[in-house]
Amino acid sequence: MNDAPPWWRDAVVYQVYLRSFADSDGDGTGDLRGVLEHLDHLVELGVEALWLNPFYVSGEADAGYDVVNHRAVDPVMGTLGDIDELLEQAHARGLRVVGDVVANHTSTHHPWFEEARRGGPGHPARARYHVAPGRGDGPPSDWQSLFGGPAWEPFGDCEWYLHLFDVEQPDLNWEHPDVTADVERTVRFWLDRGFDGLRFDAAGALAKAPGYPPVPAGERHPGDDHPYSDRPEVHRVHRRFAQVLAERPYRFGVAEIWGPPWVGEPYTRPDELQQAFAMDLVFTPLDAGALGTVVRGYLDAAARQGRRPAWPHGNHDVTRAATRWGPEGAPAVLLVLLALPGATYLYAGDELGLPEVELADDDLRDPTWWRSRGTERGRDGARVPLPWTRAEDGHHGFSPQGPGVRTWLPQPPGWGDRSVQDQRVEPWSPLRVVRAALPVRNSALRDAPWPTWLPAPDGVLAFRRGGTTCVLNTGAEPLPLDAWGSELLANSRPLDEHGRLPSPGTAWLR
Ligand code: NOJ
Repeated sequence: MNDAPPWWRDAVVYQVYLRSFADSDGDGTGDLRGVLEHLDHLVELGVEALWLNPFYVSGEADAGYDVVNHRAVDPVMGTLGDIDELLEQAHARGLRVVGDVVANHTSTHHPWFEEARRGGPGHPARARYHVAPGRGDGPPSDWQSLFGGPAWEPFGDCEWYLHLFDVEQPDLNWEHPDVTADVERTVRFWLDRGFDGLRFDAAGALAKAPGYPPVPAGERHPGDDHPYSDRPEVHRVHRRFAQVLAERPYRFGVAEIWGPPWVGEPYTRPDELQQAFAMDLVFTPLDAGALGTVVRGYLDAAARQGRRPAWPHGNHDVTRAATRWGPEGAPAVLLVLLALPGATYLYAGDELGLPEVELADDDLRDPTWWRSRGTERGRDGARVPLPWTRAEDGHHGFSPQGPGVRTWLPQPPGWGDRSVQDQRVEPWSPLRVVRAALPVRNSALRDAPWPTWLPAPDGVLAFRRGGTTCVLNTGAEPLPLDAWGSELLANSRPLDEHGRLPSPGTAWLR
């Protein structure tokens, strides 16, 4: 019997946002071969796994999250052969690969939806989606899309379909046996190809209240009955996913959940998924007290279920960490997360400290922009293609092709100064900070005991795990470190001339 903790429990997972990671064929959009060509970057960084955002055949209305065929690769991204090669090459380098299952909705171009549209009112194909007759001239209920505007779209006959996201993302009806069977088939399909884990997109939205009752106003509280978020019925689905994952050894699932610890906790019950994202973290200000409270809340919730948290430092849906927490704050928070029990998810480009980009209106691609009628700029600012080199080729080495490649979102001026090439040699660059910290985490923190919280002055968060202490300083003054340890193992920024830790900054000491 092998008692070693499962690999995913405390893994550092690098989120490859495919279309912005690296382009291999010069069309300006990142692809699977681009990842293959840059796998060494991930090895050099020292992460243990990569998560690939959707690469399936897509209608391209929501950057791949509107899926036309869940078991086929979009030609823009590559081929199934590329996936197999990527899995093989990643595994050969000791990297695990996590996929992304979009189970809440399909694309309107999915054959099921095309059949539903053609079939007309009452057609059995419509039962695979949430379809209802309108009320008078209006929609079946007052639900609003999470991307803005109404969540119901008329078919042009007497029926409407529900789309919690874009109008091209109709919600699947999880009460329908075809839906369950098809998504299970998808899960097995990718696990059989060699994926080591799966993220379940919009995991909390899979069940809807019958009759689509009004959404209550205001904040949510434990025990609230929300008509489409985190309903008790979704857990039947996740228990089933857990069973399918358990058919093969060492696989895991992470639920995409938004909300405080009590929201995600039930998804990590012993018979459900192994992880749920601790998403409130990304909305927590850079303040030691606030971060300490949030972190302890998620740790306690996970521990109650015998699990560990999945810490998102950033992702493709939120403002870049370097803009949210500031250029010095983002690495400081990252070092806190890396020092805690649980898995850390590092979003591609955050190892370079890339800031949120202000894109021109005409360059925006996120459906949020038009669905909100131009009031929400959406998520594109966090999705700008990575700069690999300082070359003035118009794309900073994003593509191996020379000048003339137009990236799907434009890179801003000065992007080359933030390139991997520059940061490899620049002392204290975000890249060097992450590269220096990861091996230390693996040796001193990965398998260390649960944290003991240490009394600390205002603006300071400190905890010890075994022989290692982590201190975060968000206070007004630089922090002398002598009280916390005698040997500095890693730090998010240089100490000042008196050996103190500037604010914001994090240090690991022994
Ligand atoms: C969550 C994904 O992360 C996001 O990018 C997407 O728009 C929605 N789910 C809908 O699939």
